[in-house]
Amino acid sequence: MTSPETSPVTPAALLALACGAAREAGELVRQRPADLGVDTKSTPTDVVTTVDGAAERLIVGALLAARPQDGVFGEEGAGIAGSSGVRWVIDPIDGTVNYVYNLPAYAVSIAAELDGKVVAGAVLDVAAGALFTATLGGGAGREEVPLHCNAQEDLSQSLIGTGFSYDAAVRRRQAEILTAVLPKVRDIRRFGSCALDLCAVAGGRLDGYYEYGPSLWDYAAGGLIAREAGATVRGVHGGLVVASAPGIFGALTALLPD
Ligand code: IPD
Ligand code: CA
Ligand code: CA
Repeated sequence: MTSPETSPVTPAALLALACGAAREAGELVRQRPADLGVDTKSTPTDVVTTVDGAAERLIVGALLAARPQDGVFGEEGAGIAGSSGVRWVIDPIDGTVNYVYNLPAYAVSIAAELDGKVVAGAVLDVAAGALFTATLGGGAGREEVPLHCNAQEDLSQSLIGTGFSYDAAVRRRQAEILTAVLPKVRDIRRFGSCALDLCAVAGGRLDGYYEYGPSLWDYAAGGLIAREAGATVRGVHGGLVVASAPGIFGALTALLPD
């Protein structure tokens, strides 16, 4: 039997671990206790539930049980440097506001970085029960079915997703950016989960997505899934994240700040 320490570090092996942990956490999230224990974090609109923390602990426990030397970086406080070269980037519930309101757009997002580069990503759409996956160079899929982004070339005919911060000052900036984008596109969607927005680009349910200010745990897995589905992706932690059909990327980013 292979011991955890000698397991091969391949993107496929890391993805398999991420998928298992995402499915387990998804089950926990789906159970939805009557009292979600809603609290606030960075601002009064930034909510967190007891399920967010419990799901992150479950994911970290599952990953480190298999690979004890790895690092972890999770939204709800998980932070271990690790020594293996692998770091897991975790958003236990992406779309917590939707989860609190019982709107069916929230996800478990787990990415694996190898030497600082995302090489595997799993995003579980919990309400739909659909797992989106990708490995670097290995393509993207939804429940094993390959994903391909749209071949859109005309920004004026494009459906574009976006998202907003919990910080009022950042929202003011985002509203300004939106006034530049909205007149130039087919329409805008704000679903409330960055990870699912990126998977929507990957699967052609959006032509593009941009957001100013998401965190690495929001877009690490979904960004790889969109890229592996053929989208052009640019992501900066705390800055601009853009993913779109390659044919509209230039026109879309021309409307956005650097
Ligand atoms: C948020 C969602 C939202 C995005 C925010 C994120 P959370 O994550 O992804 O769509 O617009 O920037 O913070 O708080 O639900 O994990
Ligand atoms: Ca998030
Ligand atoms: Ca979250």
